[in-house]
Amino acid sequence: MERKKIIAGNWKMNKTPSETAILLDEIKSKLGDLNCKFIICPPFISLERAIETAKNSPIKIGGQNCYWEESGAYTGEVSAKMLADLGIEYVILGHSERRTYFGDTDQSVNKKIKSAINHSLTAIFCVGESLEQRELGVTETHIKSQIKLGLLGISQEEMAKIIIAYEPIWAIGTGKTATSQQAEEVCRFIRKIIGEMYNCETAENIQIIYGGSMNEKNAAELLSMENIDGGLIGGASLKPDEITAIANNCI
Ligand code: PGA
Repeated sequence: MERKKIIAGNWKMNKTPSETAILLDEIKSKLGDLNCKFIICPPFISLERAIETAKNSPIKIGGQNCYWEESGAYTGEVSAKMLADLGIEYVILGHSERRTYFGDTDQSVNKKIKSAINHSLTAIFCVGESLEQRELGVTETHIKSQIKLGLLGISQEEMAKIIIAYEPIWAIGTGKTATSQQAEEVCRFIRKIIGEMYNCETAENIQIIYGGSMNEKNAAELLSMENIDGGLIGGASLKPDEITAIANNCI
């Protein structure tokens, strides 16, 4: 089976609601007939405007995080249930910035993934090694542990609601992209792990995307790799010409 490509923009803490409407309108006007799934993830506060603006376009809107409880005394948090109620279909979970700055762990990411799936959201589950881990030669051990702990208790059927994003921390926002070989190697390894944890069919069907300084120039080569099914794009997703060029060129 052909795996459809996914281009997902992670806007991080950028764009107010009114700026979101302007940027999305511009992106919308530059999108051609898409051959990929195209997702934009703005900040929580801008989600509603994003959904309104993306109406009647192929753009899907996603969140950047969620909490695992449905409601309660959790000041400042937003639940998967709340995202789903807004019409959100995707949520990024376990991004390295969340792990580094906000204390997300493999265990909390696992609870968030379960909650997202329970509310019919598709989780864009992020994993990736630091520069130190790569240099020490423990990339595969680290990725394997993140995948196993993050997906603990997730059934084979539920895997249809998971997209895995391989994002080497040293490549995020640094302009230092992984080479297509480095990215392909780890994405292939992730597919192998999924095959071991579930079965061949699940491994064949799971969409594994790459993130880390992906841009208009390096996207085509990365996306041509056998095991790379798309991109999770930060900086370049804030530039309408770049993100739409990447999406429009997806085959
Ligand atoms: P970047 O971010 O494209 O700016 O490196 C990617 C990400 O953090 O998802």
